[in-house]
Amino acid sequence: MAMFFELNTGAKIPAVGLGTWQANSGVVGDAVIAAVKAGYRHIDCAAAYNNQTEVGSALRKLYEEGIVKREDLFITSKLWCADHAPEDVPLALENTLNELQTDYVDLYLIHWPVPIKKGAGLKPENILPLNLPGTWGAMEKLHDSGKARAIGISNFSSKKLEDLLAIARVPPAVNQVECHPGWQQSKLQAVCNAKGVHLTAYSPLGSPGTTWMKGNVLTNSVVSMIAEKLGKSPAQVALRWGLQMGHSVLPKSTSEARIKENLDLFDWSIPDDLLAKFSEIEQVRLLRGNFAIHPESVYKSAEELWDGEI
Ligand code: A2P
Repeated sequence: MAMFFELNTGAKIPAVGLGTWQANSGVVGDAVIAAVKAGYRHIDCAAAYNNQTEVGSALRKLYEEGIVKREDLFITSKLWCADHAPEDVPLALENTLNELQTDYVDLYLIHWPVPIKKGAGLKPENILPLNLPGTWGAMEKLHDSGKARAIGISNFSSKKLEDLLAIARVPPAVNQVECHPGWQQSKLQAVCNAKGVHLTAYSPLGSPGTTWMKGNVLTNSVVSMIAEKLGKSPAQVALRWGLQMGHSVLPKSTSEARIKENLDLFDWSIPDDLLAKFSEIEQVRLLRGNFAIHPESVYKSAEELWDGEI
């Protein structure tokens, strides 16, 4: 298993990246430093995580100490929902580049297919209809400029991905979505495979620390049984499953030991007979986008936001 997947741009995306969602200020910088020292070359960021300035300082320190070069890193960031207006897209990236102390990102994603009014909070009444041609056109210009070496989307259903492919001049390189043994995304994965779009898995451990989501991937009986058989941790089994499905995975951790554990995935594999057992796991979408769903919202139900993939 290579440590990279190839994108439709020809660039290579490292198979394991450090997730930084819910990595608090004060700890995220140290997590980035520990991860890069452990061998991670992919850091997944977003303006909405409110910690990019600290990530940027940590990266600067790593360059200055000669631990890694910018060109050897793969840095992803995401356009926030309040910045979908075409004129706001380049400003949002500029701000992110300043925070991350870099001239370009390797990948820039539309964070959610959920535009909200500029400067407004994430409330259903602030949600606007998606303007894919406008927002994607602005993303394509960032790609043309070289400031976003690849562009893509996040939290897009199969239908929204296909709607985008129908109008895109530059096809999305990546769709980053919730994906783990408890929400395997088989339909979306088939569409992505057919269209040459790479699927990146966020919450690849089922976000065990996010109490309001009640994920139980790491305690699932199939995952535990396989972990025991292979002498690996449940987290490693969940991540290795993702790699074998062809996904890059973005485990978040701020603990140095777990950061290392989550990269120790390349000198072993899950054999086919055990891989088949993952089909027995009950499927539940944990991150449902409830913030966007309301009778007064553009999205009146989870079925509408996810186009039935719920
Ligand atoms: P911590 O940051 O204390 O390591 P996900 O990436 O699916 O959102 O999961 C992130 C959550 O999983 C965090 O709460 C993180 O806690 C925890 N976590 C990360 N790596 C492991 C691991 N190897 N084993 C158990 N829990 C882990």
